[in-house]
Amino acid sequence: MFKVQDELKARGEAARARGILPLFEEDAGRAEAFSIGFDGLLFDYAKTHLDREDRAALLGWAEAAGVAARRDAMFSGARINETEGRAVLHTALRNLEGGPVEVDGRDVMPEIRDTLERMKRFARRVRAQSYKGAGGEITDVVNIGIGGSHLGPEMAVRALETFRQGPRCHFLSNVDGADAADILDHLDPRQTLVIVASKSFTTQETMTNAATVRDWMATAVDNPAKQFVALSSSKEKTAEFGVPPEQVFDFGDYVGGRYSVWGPIGLSLMIAIGPEAFGMMLRGGAAMDRHFREAPLAENMPVMLGLVGLWHHQVMGFPTRAVLPYAQRLERLPAYLQQLEMESNGKRVRMDGRTLDLPSGPVVWGEPGTNGQHAFYQLIHQGTQVVPCEFIVAAEGHEPTLAHHHRLLLANCLAQSEALMRGRDMATAQALMAEAGYEGAERDRQAAHRVFEGNRPSVTLMIDQLTPYRLGQIIALYEHRVFVEGVMLGINSFDQWGVELGKELARALEPVLAGEESAEGKDGSTRALVAYAQRFWAR
Ligand code: F6P
Repeated sequence: MFKVQDELKARGEAARARGILPLFEEDAGRAEAFSIGFDGLLFDYAKTHLDREDRAALLGWAEAAGVAARRDAMFSGARINETEGRAVLHTALRNLEGGPVEVDGRDVMPEIRDTLERMKRFARRVRAQSYKGAGGEITDVVNIGIGGSHLGPEMAVRALETFRQGPRCHFLSNVDGADAADILDHLDPRQTLVIVASKSFTTQETMTNAATVRDWMATAVDNPAKQFVALSSSKEKTAEFGVPPEQVFDFGDYVGGRYSVWGPIGLSLMIAIGPEAFGMMLRGGAAMDRHFREAPLAENMPVMLGLVGLWHHQVMGFPTRAVLPYAQRLERLPAYLQQLEMESNGKRVRMDGRTLDLPSGPVVWGEPGTNGQHAFYQLIHQGTQVVPCEFIVAAEGHEPTLAHHHRLLLANCLAQSEALMRGRDMATAQALMAEAGYEGAERDRQAAHRVFEGNRPSVTLMIDQLTPYRLGQIIALYEHRVFVEGVMLGINSFDQWGVELGKELARALEPVLAGEESAEGKDGSTRALVAYAQRFWAR
């Protein structure tokens, strides 16, 4: 494994000196050879510095790291999340046409199917208005949850707005009272269904918001519990909170929070788009699972997306990765992927306890195009850091009367990846400035600002149209990409110990802020900040 990495380091250095555009001239079949088409998706990674030998070396690394064996272990229900002693089976949630999936000899598929059927029945009742609130028909659903119990359903409900016929969905996540106030302000408690989504049912933000919303509902509804649903792994805790058992949808500890949109955590989505469309999303995810399990590594979309990610961050040393959906309805995808990728692979210790000798996962960020073009693309084109970009775009929109908008959107997306690669040299910039009337040194000074170095890598994922099935494929693609990268780094992508210390200290600081405990023992900065805030609390 270390030999592979040494070789790759040298390859990365050689690639930095190489132009991307000439690679197309040298290899007429490059576009085809550096892309993967599968079931309606086209993943193009030709606009990167990778050549065929680099790719072979990366594939050698994947083989040496045992990606295929680890993948098979995950799908088979082995406890590959070793630091929490858990299996990793979010894939079982979408394995509806597959065979049994066993954890320690027990098939988990019957419980998954049973819960899915209960979810469907419930969603149908809400959508058909036979499930009623104290004031009649349910017009609004509030999903209370954070992290994986929030980002997935929020992203997907927005992404599939075209398919929504159910009630309006709202997502309450932040412990900041402003979030609750702004959402509740517009709602009628008698016609609102509240979904408390928390795998653990102990998360401070979610439980605080759940209590606040229950109090709000109690001002207008005799029995708020009737309008509460819980999605959790802990039936004990949901019972303690008072949710009736028939309104609890549970899932096993083999489903990680950030991988949970496929099951009960997706209930708000199912209510919004209906069980059939939700089922199509599961099918899309399952199709990607089959591809991930069966396609040879070199033709395997999640594997190649992962290898390109490792190439850019760990080998070439580019510090961040921009995800740029040219789809307004995918506006929450970057936030969703931030959790998926950074909570999964932002780790400095390997599974075997040793410190990672490569950088961990990159900073992932982004905004939809074309909006981002008028905000941060300046840096992407002319800044001193290289930001590998991942464009996601659909060939067709859902607005036939606005097809010209979609053509412009697509043209912008393709133009960006072309501009990043092609750039504009000094001679061209000088000619432009001469045309504009500049001469001599002033022409050159003006031209320098208009030079684009180019040679900046990007990949593009193109789909025909954003549908539930495609969304399922895209989410599963990214899940498996994160997995591939994690295995190749030797880390556990399925725990998140890095979020614990902050939670612990917040619990300890609350009584300090309230003046019930002393700030003694805290550092000077924290003490000063506490004292400043307390001046306002005392008023
Ligand atoms: O931020 C840590 C975390 O545990 C995430 O992994 C998880 O998605 C989120 O908190 C919410 O957890 P829960 O679903 O248990 O409320």
